[in-house]
Amino acid sequence: MTQNSDAIHEIVREHYAERIKNSASCCGRFDTLNATPDSGSTAEGKLYPADLLATLSEGESAVSYGCGDPITLASLQPGQIVLDLGSGAGLDCFFAAKKVGAAGHVIGVDMTPEMIDRARSSAKRMNLDNVEFRQGYLEDLPVQANSVDVIISNCVINLAPDKSKIFSEAFRVLKAGGKLAVSDIVTDGPLPDAIKKSLSAWAGCIAGAVEADDYIGMMKAVGFTDISITPVYFDQEDVDSALADMKDSIDLTTFSGEKVYKSVFSAKITAYKPS
Ligand SMILES: C[S@@+](CC[C@H](N)C(=O)[O-])C[C@H]1O[C@@H](n2cnc3c(N)ncnc32)[C@H](O)[C@@H]1O
Repeated sequence: MTQNSDAIHEIVREHYAERIKNSASCCGRFDTLNATPDSGSTAEGKLYPADLLATLSEGESAVSYGCGDPITLASLQPGQIVLDLGSGAGLDCFFAAKKVGAAGHVIGVDMTPEMIDRARSSAKRMNLDNVEFRQGYLEDLPVQANSVDVIISNCVINLAPDKSKIFSEAFRVLKAGGKLAVSDIVTDGPLPDAIKKSLSAWAGCIAGAVEADDYIGMMKAVGFTDISITPVYFDQEDVDSALADMKDSIDLTTFSGEKVYKSVFSAKITAYKPS
């Protein structure tokens, strides 16, 4: 199958539609990193600090498919307008809505209708009226230019075939001086062809990941400044379980868990639109 943009969007959309229907976690391979505040497991502690989780009271919850904590990274303030790129089931939008309060507003954009439906019904159940969800592509954001204070995103940009277009759209909608705060998967060194050619590895947040330097380069090219990228390495156990999940779709004989552990990682990324 040719990995053109439409094919990748379609495989990613199908993957996440299926995940939310089954309310299964994340990118397929890093499940134990994900937060489900109502899960009763200790997994959420790996992504979000307890004081942030506590801002959602009992009964207020949403599934996480993320690989980090863009909320803490964003340092949100009351009254801000926030945009979440690839909002999924809405968890980061709900955290953001609590942080920005009644004077602020949160917009979640996602291409998967099943995610939008789930996020909207959860927001309604939580009585959050400062958050809205718009269906659309990050490469063509349904958001007005120069209208957003802070953009957050959690484990999404790696899934997109045209990352430069997403950064250019993010730059367009941010106000001057606005901040981008992203958790995403990046690589240190090239990935083997077997992984890069696999659409299932793409949908699982590995094949579409690019080298950290290239990621920074794409942000710089559209005008972002003060770019910072900090790695957050996965546990060996998480990587082993991810590889075990992929063994039926990819020939991993030349690609050891140790190599993935060293070359694919989550990162905290911040950047600014100049004032
Ligand atoms: C790994 S999930 C992360 C969801 C959410 N950020 C979270 O932390 O739970 C990726 C989400 O990004 C959405 N997505 C991926 N590529 C997209 C694109 N190009 N445009 C819009 N949404 C996209 C998918 O539909 C999916 O809901």
